[in-house]
Amino acid sequence: MADNQATLDFGGKTSAMPVRQGTVGPDVIDIRKLYGQTGAFTYDPGFTSTAACESAITYIDGDQGILLHRGYPIDQLAEHSTFMEVAYLLLNGELPTADEHQKFVYTISRHTMLHEQLATFYRGFRRDAHPMAIMCGVVGALSAFYHDSTDITDPKQRMIASHRLIAKMPTIAAMAYKYSIGQPFMYPQNDLSYTGNFLRMTFGVPAENYEVNPVVEQAMRRIFILHADHEQNASTSTVRLAGSSGANPFACIAAGIACLWGPAHGGANEAALNMLREIGRPERIPEFIGRAKDKDDPFRLMGFGHRVYKNFDPRAKVMKATAEAVLNELGVTDPIFDVARELEQIALKDDYFVEKKLYPNVDFYSGVILSAIGFPTSMFTALFALARTVGWVAQWNEMISDPEQKIGRPRQLYTGSAQRDYVPVDQR
Ligand code: CMC
Repeated sequence: MADNQATLDFGGKTSAMPVRQGTVGPDVIDIRKLYGQTGAFTYDPGFTSTAACESAITYIDGDQGILLHRGYPIDQLAEHSTFMEVAYLLLNGELPTADEHQKFVYTISRHTMLHEQLATFYRGFRRDAHPMAIMCGVVGALSAFYHDSTDITDPKQRMIASHRLIAKMPTIAAMAYKYSIGQPFMYPQNDLSYTGNFLRMTFGVPAENYEVNPVVEQAMRRIFILHADHEQNASTSTVRLAGSSGANPFACIAAGIACLWGPAHGGANEAALNMLREIGRPERIPEFIGRAKDKDDPFRLMGFGHRVYKNFDPRAKVMKATAEAVLNELGVTDPIFDVARELEQIALKDDYFVEKKLYPNVDFYSGVILSAIGFPTSMFTALFALARTVGWVAQWNEMISDPEQKIGRPRQLYTGSAQRDYVPVDQR
């Protein structure tokens, strides 16, 4: 690799490709002209070595366990910031001034209600529908309700759609929960914080006043901040890919929700808690560690491992401390927390997990907190989707405004039949 260019010898020709440098992080070889120069594609299923876009929003160093939003470390944001401040930061690039913050909070609070017709839409779902199924459907349907913010060529409409999505997600998620338990929907109360309002819409009832517990509010604030964005993960890449065709924002976010649902991604928090409950008591941990290591058993330790973090997940550290604080404050003694602590200790010393660099990820402890607060496991991934919406819309806006943006269109290594002639059915 010469200065600022890499060369590739292929097919008897040497091709030069520019090398680009980010602010921090590894160099990136720009292979856009590779096919034109060599007639060959690259092969990288899972994008393990491929940067699909340029972005200035989030930086991760997986070896060092570093996560920065617009340059700010995640632990500092989780400790000192509010979710609205982090949302503003991700969307606009800078922390807001006091005035900007106040205006942003005001704007978001003016969009928290849902079109009343959407309540009827909910009633079309079965009561036992998974909240993520409802979220996919309702968020996709927003485009049918808010036509005035679906023109993606208009920056003003893009911002209104972004504000609507951030503001309405707590209402949508809380309504999914209320619907599942047969309680009346709660309208938002805009003088509460973003998290306080969500807690009231979820756990409050119209017949009584709802007092927001500050410890729970604080824990939710942290959980939301820790899930707000995570660079080009599967669901964010899905949002970008869907958006690259010019699809409307609500449809793109619905696509992101669908991708997040999978157990290898956002669905891991639900799967991790179900696993801890299945393990049940510390004595059963070795059995499950054994299964996780068995090549013939598809079982994996949920909440362990990460594509990028190969040292520790900085979000997991904050999450663990928050879990301790919430359980103490609420006086909850849940044996699954003992199982989680012990499982973590055993796995961290086990050769298999050490060699493969498998550490607890953000989803390992989040379920313990959410369960202590009173959320059913089926709501866990919906809460992840609620928080990640901020990152999705920030990344979607960045992509639409990027002059280099093109429709996403991967190539393939074709291994099917070569051309052959049609055979009539009586001759097959
Ligand atoms: N338990 C047991 N073995 C594992 C685990 C695990 N949780 N994770 C990875 N491995 C093994 C895997 O079997 C493979 O072994 P081998 O090389 O012998 O075939 C090796 O480690 C590498 O795994 P991989 O699947 O190739 O790695 P990946 O980077 O494609 O996958 C992952 C990353 C997060 C999908 C995976 O670690 C996993 O499935 N973890 C459990 C699910 C989970 O907790 N997901 C949440 C991720 S963080 C939040 C989010 O992104 O939404």
